Amino acid sequence: MNQTKIFAHRGFSSNYPENTMVAFQAAEQSQADGIEFDVQLSLDDVPVVIHDATLDRTTNGTGFVQSYPVHKIKKLDAGSWFHEKFEGESVPTLEEVLVWAKGNQLILNIELKGQLSDRDKAITVIYPMIKEHDLEDRVILSSFDHTVVAQCEQFAPMLETAVIVLSALYQPESYLRTVQTLGYHFYYPTLLDKEVESLIKKGIRLRPYTVNDEKQIKRFIELGCDGIITDDPQKAVALRNQL
Ligand code: G3P
Ligand code: CA
Repeated sequence: MNQTKIFAHRGFSSNYPENTMVAFQAAEQSQADGIEFDVQLSLDDVPVVIHDATLDRTTNGTGFVQSYPVHKIKKLDAGSWFHEKFEGESVPTLEEVLVWAKGNQLILNIELKGQLSDRDKAITVIYPMIKEHDLEDRVILSSFDHTVVAQCEQFAPMLETAVIVLSALYQPESYLRTVQTLGYHFYYPTLLDKEVESLIKKGIRLRPYTVNDEKQIKRFIELGCDGIITDDPQKAVALRNQL
């Protein structure tokens, strides 16, 4: 059985401002296997790395991400809201993250966010960038929008994909077959141990989010999940090393 991979949720977001380069760099230093981050399109269709539909919570800007061209988004401070010592951190573009990732071995779990129309467009914008940087074998494209996940399988079948769900899937195997994916990113309290074990046996790549509690981290490692998505990759890596 392969070792459970540790994915840093929005980077090392328990200690650094989420979805910033400093959070991704810290995740790499923590020995995480991968990072999870959120991508949506700016007004001028540039993929930018930010979680919310609006700028307000994690930057000093205000309004919808999609209402601003990338050059305006890049001027914002995405670090100070977390702590003044991170002042000057910017909202990364996907391009910046991909260029940086070329220098390491991290798996990139890219979550497609945003309005449905943009997510449809997102694949056609994002996939050529991944290809150009030769990162196809290190990317997992995931989304709560499963139509987009299915579309990924059509448009870029060589990319690994995953559905993200808040409630457990009803008849997961048949559903995942319909979407044409083996990746199932689930909200960690929604599956019982026996359900996890049964799905793993069937080859489903289970990655619970967002697992920060020590007991739960150990539980999913011991069950043999493909990965765990956590805000504290340092803790998860240390726990995995103890098992
Ligand atoms: O990828 C799983 C997780 O990140 C989904 O929730 O809201 O943190 O993007 P959220
Ligand atoms: Ca996410």
